[in-house]
Amino acid sequence: MKQRILSGIQPSGKLHLGNYLGAIRQHLAAQNDPNSDCYYFLANYHSLTTIQDASVLKEHTLDVARTYLALGLDPSRSLLFLQSDVPEVCELTWILSTLTPMGLLQRCVSFKDKVSKGIASNHGLFAYPVLQAADILIYDSHLVPVGMDQKQHLEVCRDIAVKFNLTYGETLVVPDAVIKDEVAIIPGTDGLKMSKSYSNTVDLFGSDKEMKAQVMSIVTDSKGLEEPKDPDTCNVLALYKFFANADERQLMADRYRAGGYGYGHAKLELLGKLKNYFGPYREQYLELVKRPDEVMDVLRSCGKKARATARVTMDRVRAAVGLP
Ligand code: ADP
Ligand code: TRP
Repeated sequence: MKQRILSGIQPSGKLHLGNYLGAIRQHLAAQNDPNSDCYYFLANYHSLTTIQDASVLKEHTLDVARTYLALGLDPSRSLLFLQSDVPEVCELTWILSTLTPMGLLQRCVSFKDKVSKGIASNHGLFAYPVLQAADILIYDSHLVPVGMDQKQHLEVCRDIAVKFNLTYGETLVVPDAVIKDEVAIIPGTDGLKMSKSYSNTVDLFGSDKEMKAQVMSIVTDSKGLEEPKDPDTCNVLALYKFFANADERQLMADRYRAGGYGYGHAKLELLGKLKNYFGPYREQYLELVKRPDEVMDVLRSCGKKARATARVTMDRVRAAVGLP
């Protein structure tokens, strides 16, 4: 039997290098494995916890879909769909909620983080991990590739699945998170975790001007051009290393140590690498900007397939809990 790989991404803003290296790249690589069956969705119900403007949510949703398609998601091999095209996930969320201890959710750091950043603490934000658990469990997912920040949500999901199975008998597949250590936390232009909520991103498909401005804004220490520099603490090299080969990485580190090589030089090299790497994808992306209907058609037809899978699980769940 094929293993089901599933992940979700919130359409809550432009996608950036952290999303790409921490999540999207793994999602796309998985579709090349003939033993995997990949489901990727845009978590628009989740985004409602923070975006309450219909046109903004719709635009972000289309944008994330385009980005995945431009980067190589192939709808004949993987499903790319809208969370909201499978409303059964909300029914499962309710059923799982009745098994979820309050304390489990109260311990979730992402809720506390969001509230401390000023996001209104509505019930949806608090119950967010239960909806995420339903997303995963409704498709009998085996593996869930995510960034490190989602580790706790995956643990909550496993706890809920185990509790369901203990309460009602073996019904749900207990999934495993897949977290790649080397891309666990991609630093942003200020050296902290890259995140759209910290305004420290390098976006995947910004204009040339935007990308240049973001790269040039990477924070470095104030050492002068001639001074030797420490490659191990440099935010530019921390990103460059993902797009350069071993020799190029070594060369940049040697130049830093030798002195006479400035951060401005390194930033331009990084910019060159990013343009080369993302250039062809960017063309695809700009093509898709012109064809929103085509993008929606892909989402809808994948959504139908995902919904059929979800319904089978829901029949099992309803029978297990006693909903005739
Ligand atoms: P953001 O922090 O910008 O809001 P999301 O929370 O929407 O990003 O993350 C979407 C996916 O990208 C998740 O799987 C997350 O783990 C991954 N991700 C986001 N930022 C990073 C980062 N800086 N390093 C590694 N992975 C990341
Ligand atoms: N919470 C995830 C994030 O912010 C998005 C998400 C929603 C997700 N449902 C999921 C990820 C299910 C993996 C599996 O990145």
